[in-house]
Amino acid sequence: MAPILTLDSIVAGYGAGDILKGVDLQIGAGTVTCLIGPNGAGKSTVLKTISGLLRPRQGSIRFHEQELKGLSSKARLRLGIVHVPQDRSLFPAMSVWDNLLTGGYTIRDQKLLRERVDRAVEAFPICAKRAREHAGSLSGGEQKQVELARTLVLDPALILLDEPSIGLDPKSRQQVFASIRQLAATGRTVLLVEQNARSGLAAADYGAVLESGVVRLVATGADLLDNPEVGRLYLGAAAR
Ligand SMILES: Nc1ncnc2c1ncn2[C@@H]1O[C@H](COP(=O)(O)OP(=O)(O)O)[C@@H](O)[C@H]1O
Ligand SMILES: [Mg+2]
Repeated sequence: MAPILTLDSIVAGYGAGDILKGVDLQIGAGTVTCLIGPNGAGKSTVLKTISGLLRPRQGSIRFHEQELKGLSSKARLRLGIVHVPQDRSLFPAMSVWDNLLTGGYTIRDQKLLRERVDRAVEAFPICAKRAREHAGSLSGGEQKQVELARTLVLDPALILLDEPSIGLDPKSRQQVFASIRQLAATGRTVLLVEQNARSGLAAADYGAVLESGVVRLVATGADLLDNPEVGRLYLGAAAR
């Protein structure tokens, strides 16, 4: 099956010097892939080149068969590529419901908007239960649920998640990973970056290791979890 996303020899950086030094990666449609690697390896940078926040210096990124080079972030969003950044991105003083609706601000068709919102609420019932509360009054895990619901209003094909579990308590973390599985079960493709590599790989179909600006290893999440070298370098010595 043709991949939904192909990165070919991506070179990218911010100033002098390259952070990504020829990144190759293929993502299959409907799969969850977890990108791991040391702090500062360039994991977030990979996501930025895909969503269009950063222009690669060399290489190609294809979504289905379409070259993304030259397309703005907005154009990529229209293709169904949604980037959820690491930092909390809800408007804290706005209600949960209004935050959810901001996901659909480009949708003119009211019927379509309602369908999308209904679907998002079905997947993330907290949006209805806590609809009137200020988003900022929710816990970190609850806010992440609303953020994911908001991306669903955009009907994304490819969801880029940067450290979705960061700063969350264990229970909320589990919930986020369960939600990610659920997104994939409804046909979305997910590429996530995780510091909690063990949980991220456990939730993923595939894992990729980014190191020194290149993808060193791609395997199933389960195989990476079993790989002693990966365990030693990225998962913490002791199995939990
Ligand atoms: N906006 C930026 N301007 C300059 N340097 C940056 C910027 N963002 C990230 N970097 C640098 O690029 C490198 C990779 O960063 P990043 O992709 O955030 O790594 P990771 O997500 O793997 O921790 C780091 O050395 C970081 O300091
Ligand atoms: Mg990062």
